Amino acid sequence: MITCENGLFHLKNENLSLLFRVTRYGLPELLHFGTPVEDSDAEALACNPGLGWGSCLLLNDADSGSCPEHIPLLWSGSGRGDYRESPLELDGKSTNFCYVNHRVLEAAPAMVSGLPQAHGACETLEITMEQPGAKLYLYFSLFETALTRRAVLENTGTDNLCIHKLMSFSMDLPGEFEMTSFHGGWAAEMGKNTVPVSRSRCVIDSTTGASSNMHNPGFLLSEPDATEDAGVVYGFNLVYSGNHYASAQGSQQGLTRVMQGINPVNFCWDVAPGETFETPEAVMTCSAEGFGGMSRRMHRFVMDHIVPEYWADRERPVLYNSWEGCMFDFDQKRLLDLAKRAKNLGCELFVLDDGWFGVRNNDRAGLGDYHVNTKKLPNGIAGLSAKVQNLGMEFGLWFEPESVNEDSDLYRAHPDWALTDGHPTILGRHQLLLDLTKPEVRDYIVENVTRILDMSALTYVKWDMNRHSVAVGARAHAYILGLYDVLRRIFEPRPYILLESCSSGGNRFDLGMLKFGPQIWCSDNTDPISRLTIQGSLSYLYPQSAFGAHVSASPHAQTLRATPLTTRGNVSFFGCLGYELDLKHLASIEIQEIKAQIEFYKSHRRLFQFGTFHRMKNGWQVSLDGVTAAGVFHGLVNAAPGYEQLRLKGLDQTKRYHLRTRAQKIRIGQFAHLLKHVAPVDIAPDGAILRTADKVYGLEDGAEGYHVSGAALTSGIRLLPLFRGTGYDKNQRTQGDFGSNVYLIEEAQ
Ligand code: DGJ
Repeated sequence: MITCENGLFHLKNENLSLLFRVTRYGLPELLHFGTPVEDSDAEALACNPGLGWGSCLLLNDADSGSCPEHIPLLWSGSGRGDYRESPLELDGKSTNFCYVNHRVLEAAPAMVSGLPQAHGACETLEITMEQPGAKLYLYFSLFETALTRRAVLENTGTDNLCIHKLMSFSMDLPGEFEMTSFHGGWAAEMGKNTVPVSRSRCVIDSTTGASSNMHNPGFLLSEPDATEDAGVVYGFNLVYSGNHYASAQGSQQGLTRVMQGINPVNFCWDVAPGETFETPEAVMTCSAEGFGGMSRRMHRFVMDHIVPEYWADRERPVLYNSWEGCMFDFDQKRLLDLAKRAKNLGCELFVLDDGWFGVRNNDRAGLGDYHVNTKKLPNGIAGLSAKVQNLGMEFGLWFEPESVNEDSDLYRAHPDWALTDGHPTILGRHQLLLDLTKPEVRDYIVENVTRILDMSALTYVKWDMNRHSVAVGARAHAYILGLYDVLRRIFEPRPYILLESCSSGGNRFDLGMLKFGPQIWCSDNTDPISRLTIQGSLSYLYPQSAFGAHVSASPHAQTLRATPLTTRGNVSFFGCLGYELDLKHLASIEIQEIKAQIEFYKSHRRLFQFGTFHRMKNGWQVSLDGVTAAGVFHGLVNAAPGYEQLRLKGLDQTKRYHLRTRAQKIRIGQFAHLLKHVAPVDIAPDGAILRTADKVYGLEDGAEGYHVSGAALTSGIRLLPLFRGTGYDKNQRTQGDFGSNVYLIEEAQ
C-alpha cells in the first residue's frame, strides 16, 4: 500500500516500510526504511539537526537546519551543500533537482531501454524532480518482500546532456553498519568479506564488462551486533549484468549513505534533447530477524519476481553434463555410452557441453561457427538428441554465442564483428567478444542459436561467456543492452527451455541474467568443500533453485582435494543437482551411492530446490510443508572430537517430528592399514584385495532415528559420536576429513 498524506510518503506492507517526506527545499528526506512503522511515528523517526553543525552550506541562511548534508536523503546532487558522495554527475556541473510532483501507479511502469525488470504485483511511487533543462524521475516499487528503486533522467533542454554517473538509488540510513560483500576470482567465487562502514568509503564494483566474479553486485548492511537470527540486516542487489558500483560511507552526523547502480568509471552517456536514460533496477530488503530473515526475503523476491515465471516454481531435472568427464574429447559413441550410464543412475537430462561445433577440439578455435562437427557427431545434433531422447532423457546443449575465435570461419568472414577498442588485440581464453552493439551481430546469434534449438527439441541451454571485455563505460553498457536483446529474442518465445547461464563459472551471477534463465552455473569449482563457501555465500542473496550444483570426480580438478562421494552429493543436494564426471570408471559402490543420492533427491526435490533456507552453525537446512532436510558438514577433523549438535530453525515447537539420517556408506579403502586390527587375515594396505573390496564394499555410517519434539530440535539434539580413534561402531559417524550427513525431519501425523 502506498499512501501520500499530510506530506508523508509511505510505502508499507506487512514486511517493510519506507517512510519519507519532501523537505521545504524540495529534497526527499528519509524517515525510515525497515520493519513496518506508522505515519504517526514520523516526527519521532526524523533526524533533527537542531542548530546544525558548523562548516556547512545552508539552503536557507535563516534556517540552520537546512544544510542538505545533515539530512538523511533518498536522493542528492553534486555540490550545493551535500558533499557526501553524489548519486548523480551530469555534464561536470553541480546539480539541483527539486521535487515537482508525484504519482502512485498500480504497477511498475515498463522500462523502455530493454533492461530487465522485476515482474509481478507491486505498487509504484513516481517522484518527479526537476532542474532547468532536465527532469529526474525516481521510481519506488513496493513488492511483498522487497522494494525496487530506479531513476530515469530526461533531457528537457536544447543541448545534449552527458551522464557521467546516475545511480539506481541513493539512501542515507541513520546508524552504524557493517558491509558484507562477496568477492573472488575464477574457481574461487563468493568469498565473504565483512567490514565496518566507516568514514572511509566502502566500494564494490566491476569493470570487466560483466557483473564479475571479483565482486558480486549483491551486498548487505547489518547492524554491528546482528546475528544470523536477530538484528537489522539490509540486503541490496542490482538487476544488471554489466559493470556495477555500490558504496557505503558513514558521515559525521552518523548517517550511512548507500548507493548502487551502473559503474561510473569511464562512463559518459549522451542524452539528446527529448530523450531519456534509465538506470537498472536496484532491489533492497530488510529484516529484523538477522541475516537469515533478510536472505529468506531476498529468496522469495527472486523466486517470485525475478526468475522467468515459467520456471519460478517448476522442478529442475537432475542433469548430467559432459564437460568435466570429456572436455573436448568425445564422439557420438562415447556420448551415448555416457547418456546410458547417466540414465541408469537416474539422471533426467543429458547436457552436451563445449566441443560440438566448428573445429572446436580445443579452446583455440571454432567459437562463432555454429555448424555441427560431423566428425564427432555424424548424425548431427538432431540425430544425437533424438537418440538421447529415445533413452528417455531430455537433451541440452552448451553455447558460447557472445564470443569468437580468430581461428573461425565467422572471424575470417567478419573480422569487424569482433569487439575491439582500437588498440592491439588482446585475447582471453584465446577468444574475442562479438560486438553485441551491432544489430547484424545480434541477428547472427539469434538466427544460429534458434535454428539449432528448434531443430533438436532442446529443453536446456547452457549459455557460457568466457572472457572479460575491452569495452568500458557507456560502450560496456550498450553491450549489455545488446545481450539482453539477444536473450529476450531467443528465450521469451521458448519459455520451456531451461536456461542456465555461465561465465567461466560465476563471472556473471546476477539478477539480470536470472531474469532470462532461472539458473546460473556458480563456479567451475565443484569441490564440495569449496562449494560450502560458494553456495553458502550465494545463499545470502539467491535461492538455492538459482544454482546448479554438480557432483564431480575426486580428487578434485581445481583443488586436488579428495572428498567422499557422500559429501559431494550431500552438498549438491542444496541446489539443482547434477553430475559432471566420467561415469565409465565408477566403482559399483559409487554407482550404488549415486543411485541412492538421485533417488533421495528426487523424492524431496521440491524441498531442496524451493524450501525455506536456513544457515546453521554446522550446515544448511531447507524446510517445506512440514518436511525439513538438514546437511551437517565437516572440514578437517580434529582428533577425539566432542559432542555435536543438530539445531534446527523455524520448526513448530509444539509438534513432534520423525528424524532419520540419510543412509550412507563409508569406503573401507580409507582405513587402509587400520583394517589389520579387525580383519582375520593380513591385508596389504594398498594391495589388490583391499582395492577390489573397496570398490564393492562399504561400512555403514552411523544412522539415527528419533521421534522428537520441535522444541528439542530447536534447542539442539546431540548427534551420534564422531570417530575418535577408539574403534568402529555402527552407531558412530565414522567419516574422517570432509565427512557429512543429511537428515530428514518429517512432521509426525
Ligand atoms: C567454462 C564453463 O564454466 C565450464 O563449465 C565449461 O562449460 C567450459 N567453459 C567449456 O568451455
